[in-house]
Amino acid sequence: MSHYQKPPELYEGLRLHQNENTGGCSPRVLEALAKLRADQIGFYPPYAGATDAVATYLGVPADRVTLANGLDEGIMALAVAYLRPPIGGPVPEAVVPEPAFEIFRFDTAVAGGTLVQVMPRPDFSFPLDAVLAAMTERTRVVFLTNPNNPTGVSMPLDAIRTLAGRVPPGAVVFVDEAYAEFAGVSFISEVASYPNVIVGRTFSKAFGLAGLRIGCLVGSPDTMDPIRRAIPVYSVNVAAAAAIQAALADLDHLNGYLRQVAESKALLYAACDRLGLTYVTSDANFVLVCAGDRTSELVNGAFARGVYIRDRSSEPGCAGCIRIGAGIVDHTRRCISVMEEVLCATR
Ligand SMILES: Cc1ncc(COP(=O)(O)O)c(C=O)c1O
Repeated sequence: MSHYQKPPELYEGLRLHQNENTGGCSPRVLEALAKLRADQIGFYPPYAGATDAVATYLGVPADRVTLANGLDEGIMALAVAYLRPPIGGPVPEAVVPEPAFEIFRFDTAVAGGTLVQVMPRPDFSFPLDAVLAAMTERTRVVFLTNPNNPTGVSMPLDAIRTLAGRVPPGAVVFVDEAYAEFAGVSFISEVASYPNVIVGRTFSKAFGLAGLRIGCLVGSPDTMDPIRRAIPVYSVNVAAAAAIQAALADLDHLNGYLRQVAESKALLYAACDRLGLTYVTSDANFVLVCAGDRTSELVNGAFARGVYIRDRSSEPGCAGCIRIGAGIVDHTRRCISVMEEVLCATR
């Protein structure tokens, strides 16, 4: 089994390579953390307040929400629950339309499932027919991301409805909505009608809480039961539980960041047009830029100038592509000036 190649720990420069919120969390989060008392840190944390706040934000009853130590943990728990081969039974299959969040591949392997990859279309639009064709009676999970990482392309919600109607009994459709705030579209309001769909959310990206690790899964309690058993009972720490309540009480901070992301993407598109680079129009907080044979020069040149952007060339369908975070406008401007400097210096 190959290992996940965690990006190197680079914290000195401008981090535009992990889709993080480089503006950070709401100041209300820092206030909530500063108010934590020694006894609260001494006790195992209560979750009712955080779960209720998340449920209210997402517009669902609290019994449909399962908190996790980052969505990464939720995805691992889902893989453990649905992709472990039963003794003497067929090996469960996970269908993954590519290019996808790499963790789907790694967690499928860790759980012992078989990965069934579906290759992308040239424009990265959702290949519904190919995903349907890849499903078998052994399919147990269909992993979707909406909008997708690393392309930023959204899929039609109707494709999720179709897949939910066609997966075999006992299988689930997982919709990773890590970037849903940026797209303004979610399947969550439909989970009550589709008990075999589980939606994943993170508070790492739009809310800037990646360092605290908190995300959640949303779905029908029965479908979620085996996943809940796979999540350690106290996996979300007391600081994250306090932070999420403070973050959700400050939606102005979120909305300010969403405005910056929209402006940053427009700036990046215009810069690519000027520099002769193509790109994929994104519904997320990053842009996949196609630099072709200039990819290494651009990634390495930016790195040398303290700006980290991510070469995604090795992902299916992404040869010559770089993923660039688009958040705080000043950071985007700095990235663009570095891109211009690198590309003009080598012309
Ligand atoms: C599609 C997708 N899902 C999940 C995650 C992880 O979220 P978390 O930080 O909550 O573990 C990421 C992070 O990059 C992501 O891109």
